[in-house]
Amino acid sequence: LDNGLARKPPMGWMSWGYYMCGVDCKNNTEKCLDEKLILSVADKFYEDGYQEAGFEYIIIDDCWSQKKRDALGRLVPDKDRFPRGMKFIADYIHKRGLKFGMYTNIADVTCMGYPGSRGHFQTDAKMFAEWGVDYLKVDGCFVTEEYLNTAYIKLGMHLNATGRPMVYSCSWPYYIEFIHHKKPDYKSVAKYCNMWRNYHDVVTSWHAIKSIIIHYQMSYDEIHEYHGPGQWNDPDMLIFGTNSLTDSQRRVHIAVYSMLASPLLLSCDMNNITPYERELLQNLDLMAIAQDPLGIMGRPYQLQHLITIWVKPHLPRKGDMYNSVSFALVNLDEIEHSVSFTPGRYGLNSTDYTVMDVFTKVFLRNITLKDTIKINVPAEDVIMYTLYPL
Ligand code: DGJ
Repeated sequence: LDNGLARKPPMGWMSWGYYMCGVDCKNNTEKCLDEKLILSVADKFYEDGYQEAGFEYIIIDDCWSQKKRDALGRLVPDKDRFPRGMKFIADYIHKRGLKFGMYTNIADVTCMGYPGSRGHFQTDAKMFAEWGVDYLKVDGCFVTEEYLNTAYIKLGMHLNATGRPMVYSCSWPYYIEFIHHKKPDYKSVAKYCNMWRNYHDVVTSWHAIKSIIIHYQMSYDEIHEYHGPGQWNDPDMLIFGTNSLTDSQRRVHIAVYSMLASPLLLSCDMNNITPYERELLQNLDLMAIAQDPLGIMGRPYQLQHLITIWVKPHLPRKGDMYNSVSFALVNLDEIEHSVSFTPGRYGLNSTDYTVMDVFTKVFLRNITLKDTIKINVPAEDVIMYTLYPL
């Protein structure tokens, strides 16, 4: 969607992955979706270097409202969990230079049964704008294919009419493909939405991350051309901070999402992010790959079963003809593999490069187009290089 927003893949935090429908704050304090939680994420972003690394949007997902609209037909935040309302939260977030996101569903009710926006597009768009919302995730449960194909466009028009810039995140193609078993019209989706879900909800396991990675590998040809500034395929949230991956799996998770130039949305108690996860999230070389201004979706080349090399070209530096290129050698197998590849075969436009390891930041060697790199990639791990033209 060409509305000037999301020129780079949005980064931030969203409640669903870890907190889900966290409404029972009395009995389940561990997973309580309330004001305190949202403000604490804003504080963490602001104080612990996440904001400097690019993390910006803080998004409340499903289960934030009361079970019924008010007498004027407006959505009302749950009084116990959001006692000072959403405008208060938006202001708090904005004061720290961060951005605020919210959620609705395109149907009568949300996926979890709270009031949805069907029949209220204009009222809700205005309400979100008045609250100071900067990003709106719109889910697609419980409606027909025909309705999905028209309603997302209509709701987008109402959002636009408010005059408030809001990143428009649509679950539209996911529901078309996996609920209605049709091919999504990505051209239309990319015209009307800033980002969209393509695949199932992430859960907190390596298995889930692996199947997401394989899905994007297989659908690269179908979706890559719709991916870029203002329009992003969205593989769903990161699962850092949930104690569900080994360190090497964490590297694979963040490496592939960065190569894909996908939105990077955390979903966890920010206090549970391990020091190593934090180091990855604040690795500015890695984030520069994820946030490269060209926004090219890295291309996967399958070398062997479960061994893939992802290649992503970057914007040349000002005044330069030649651009840097990142390579990620991903091993999804449970055993180590020896991988050899010739970077010159993957569309490089200069002749000499210096090779930096993105995780260790060590400059390893200089190479020419003829040189082959041979390296062992441990089980469920990734080796990631950026090649800078000399
Ligand atoms: C389905 C979506 O895909 C999830 O990300 C989340 O928003 C839930 N619905 C909320 O009900």
